[in-house]
Amino acid sequence: MADLRPVIAGNWKMNGLHQDGLALALGIVAQLVEQGPPASEILVCPPATLVAMVAEALAGSPVRVGGQDCHFATKGAHTGDVSAAMLKDLGCSHVIVGHSERRADHGETDALVKSKAEAALAAGLIAIVCVGETEAQRDAGATLDVIGTQLVGSIPAGASSENLVIAYEPVWAIGTGRTPTEEEIVSVHGFMRAALGKGLVDADRVRLLYGGSVKPENSKRLLRLANVNGALIGGASLKVEDFCAIARACS
Ligand code: PGA
Repeated sequence: MADLRPVIAGNWKMNGLHQDGLALALGIVAQLVEQGPPASEILVCPPATLVAMVAEALAGSPVRVGGQDCHFATKGAHTGDVSAAMLKDLGCSHVIVGHSERRADHGETDALVKSKAEAALAAGLIAIVCVGETEAQRDAGATLDVIGTQLVGSIPAGASSENLVIAYEPVWAIGTGRTPTEEEIVSVHGFMRAALGKGLVDADRVRLLYGGSVKPENSKRLLRLANVNGALIGGASLKVEDFCAIARACS
């Protein structure tokens, strides 16, 4: 297995006004500087309203900035939407696409997620494509089928380890404090690695993140699992101490 640099990504979701976002971003940088050079790539994904300010505040720091979603078109009549090129223009390096909250709240399909991921690549962004099963799907024994279908349907054309990160986030683990067992995570991540190998030449180098109730207390254990190359963190990414403790768990 390739020795991959982990990615620790914070998904702030719809949280934070200007001052909160600035304090969080600057707090993370200050803490990371104290901790020494991070062993992982560190990324924060603020709400769209804060991206410009956070990108400016973090310029020159080891912390990169990503969007939480983008439109599939580069520009045009799409009221309320943000294009990948716009995120890139603000200094983003990454964009999350296909988060389960967007799949659920906005009816996003695999085909739409794929088109968004392709727009991200075209704009020069790294796409973080999210997949994950619901609790009912897991209970029905359909987890790997669901993940396989989502991967095949959502992975952009032209993907490689340079421009694609996959996040496995079981829907039932997001924000609930529950996580799958270590065996369950290893099984899904191994399955994803093999599935990627069918389409990508450098599939063994694509970072596979785990997301869903990652906390300082479980991060060390989760980040050591086979084929887990980092974490996508929601709730705990809103606290400087917690987010930085998770980043420390990689070293
Ligand atoms: P959580 O969210 O860490 O709050 O469970 C993870 C996510 O939705 O990315």
